Amino acid sequence: MRPLDISIIGATGAVGTVLIKLLGASHIPVNRLRLLASSNSIGRQSTFRDEICFVESLGETDDIKTDIAFFSAGGAVSAKWGPLFAAQGALVIDNSNAFRMDPDVPLVLPQVNPSALAVRPRSGIVANPNCSTIQLVRALRPLVTAFDVHQIILTTYQAASGGGLIGIDELLSGTRTALDGGAGPSAERFPVPLAFNVIPQVGETAPEGVTLEERKLIQESRKILGMPHLQLTSTCVRVPVVNGHSEAIYIEFEEPVRLEQVHELLVKEPGVRLFADGIHEGYPTPRFLEDPADVHVGRVRVNPENPRGLWIWVVADNLQVGAALNALLIAQLAIANNVIGGT
Ligand SMILES: NC(=O)c1ccc[n+]([C@@H]2O[C@H](COP(=O)([O-])OP(=O)(O)OC[C@H]3O[C@@H](n4cnc5c(N)ncnc54)[C@H](OP(=O)(O)O)[C@@H]3O)[C@@H](O)[C@H]2O)c1
Repeated sequence: MRPLDISIIGATGAVGTVLIKLLGASHIPVNRLRLLASSNSIGRQSTFRDEICFVESLGETDDIKTDIAFFSAGGAVSAKWGPLFAAQGALVIDNSNAFRMDPDVPLVLPQVNPSALAVRPRSGIVANPNCSTIQLVRALRPLVTAFDVHQIILTTYQAASGGGLIGIDELLSGTRTALDGGAGPSAERFPVPLAFNVIPQVGETAPEGVTLEERKLIQESRKILGMPHLQLTSTCVRVPVVNGHSEAIYIEFEEPVRLEQVHELLVKEPGVRLFADGIHEGYPTPRFLEDPADVHVGRVRVNPENPRGLWIWVVADNLQVGAALNALLIAQLAIANNVIGGT
């Protein structure tokens, strides 16, 4: 195929910088890479495949023609600019929440629902699911395919990097000041200071008490799995971890499950790394992930009080598995399916 023109919008952010690295290491042939961010970042440099690229201001460019546009600059930027890039022929791969539930926008996990991107979407936009949804659905896929599910109840333990570079900064500077005996900076990215704390709120809270993150988990899981009636409820919690989201997931099936069968299904699932007797020792933790490209599953156990109930502990790198890597896999799927304009 011909080398592609690619733009990364949000190139200086937590997701954008990881994406530049992963794209550089991939086999995707690139003719021209454009890095775009806000006007604060004009002239910043980044290295891509041994070449220096300069960051441009999105608001000051009138040349938006490109083959693929990766958006990681927040929902407002995607909502305004995504359709404009798509109208110029780009396949827009969007990391934000702007279009995920739009019926004309496929919500794609290449390991789970690749057929959603069999043809170019009418909108020209493909949505990347939310980070906590990605690792949840990647671990659930083999189980909900094999067994009927009654309900799923989970708690997430989400890292500061889910709040972008400012989130990481707020955790690190708050931790330093607290260790030095100071009060620390007031919370900006998070509702209250995160250092030495846990916060049972991710995203704004709706009047009925459910947070945006908790709503995304339900709606997006249903859309990706094609299970509109999936019963799923969660509490999403921000924890003082720099990077890597964890989830404690309880799945109640309609029938009793056997642990060996669950192990067999999980061990065969591509990109899932199972921690179980005789496979990998111990259990995964976000600070010491074995492979940032994998979804790590441990503490797999059937509820001794209820043989229909199964607990799993799922950990993944939210910047890679939960964002940049999935965006890149979507691009590879689009290339393989020939849905990039003009290829
Ligand atoms: N972090 C995660 O784990 C994660 C996971 C899944 C999805 N996402 C989504 O990915 C997106 C980016 O998240 P992030 O964590 O990378 O955030 P981030 O670290 O705060 O980075 C934001 C990026 O957007 C750019 N930006 C902000 N306003 C802009 C504007 N008006 N025009 C052009 N560029 C602008 C910033 O540029 P400057 O540096 O110039 O300000 C920066 O490059 C968000 O929609 C987020 O919800 C994040």
